Amino acid sequence: MKIIAKPSIFQNIAKDLKYSGKAIGLVPTMGALHQGHASLIKRARKENDIVVVSIFVNPMQFNPGEDYRRYPRTPDKDSSLCRQLGVDFIFVPKPEMLYPKDYFSFINVETIGEVMCGKSRPGHFRGVATVVGKLFNIVMPDKSYFGLKDYQQSVVIKKFTEDLNFPVKIVTCPIIREKDGLALSSRNAYLSADERSRAISIYKSLQKAKNMIKYKKNVSAQSIVSVIERMIINFADKIDYIEVRDASTLDSIQRIDGSRKIVIAVAAYFGKTRLIDNILINGV
Ligand code: PAF
Repeated sequence: MKIIAKPSIFQNIAKDLKYSGKAIGLVPTMGALHQGHASLIKRARKENDIVVVSIFVNPMQFNPGEDYRRYPRTPDKDSSLCRQLGVDFIFVPKPEMLYPKDYFSFINVETIGEVMCGKSRPGHFRGVATVVGKLFNIVMPDKSYFGLKDYQQSVVIKKFTEDLNFPVKIVTCPIIREKDGLALSSRNAYLSADERSRAISIYKSLQKAKNMIKYKKNVSAQSIVSVIERMIINFADKIDYIEVRDASTLDSIQRIDGSRKIVIAVAAYFGKTRLIDNILINGV
């Protein structure tokens, strides 16, 4: 396994690999790798000749006052997990290598990047799309792997790759959960024992919503939002949003009647930690 920091060096390696006909799979990460990342890496390992994991805590996707500085950084643990999983390359650029002085170019996905997390964290998806676009140009992957916990992120990334004709297939992988249902996230490391036990209310509320939809078949989005809110309100320190939206366009919807696939997404704070989670409900 090789660890490379310089974008131009990686780009030359990628060109050679492509020239020799190798399929490249990229798993973009911000490090602090957990079993959710491991599931993406395993899938990439199965489907490609070469697996690249990028590790970069991207300053551009954090707003002032967010956790950029204290975001967990565990480089030794990350490389040993990558080695164990048969990763070929780790790409670890430094911020000044991706964003030199006088950096002016961005990828901005309008509309779907401006609702939900995009509304609470203005500029977040512009930062995500820009760095992922840069990683695609440097690593030149045939496929790139993203977890569905960051559901809106996966929709934003699919959209800009399609709109801007990036020659890469976006592969999304299921949310990996703790035994009690809490979605794995690098930010779970911030939770105190008390916050951790309250955080499970998100998963429980989403399960309750799912069962209600299964049982009733035709319900208003508002009634689902209310059920979730009632189940979280006494446990979360603050609810950021509870949204019911069309799973592909992220348009907000009024009724859940089985006619289309929908996503129910929640963002809430436990202490200072903002957690997100979601469930997908298939149409018939
Ligand atoms: O999901 C993440 O870890 C990040 O948003 C990503 C996709 C690596 C971009 O920085």
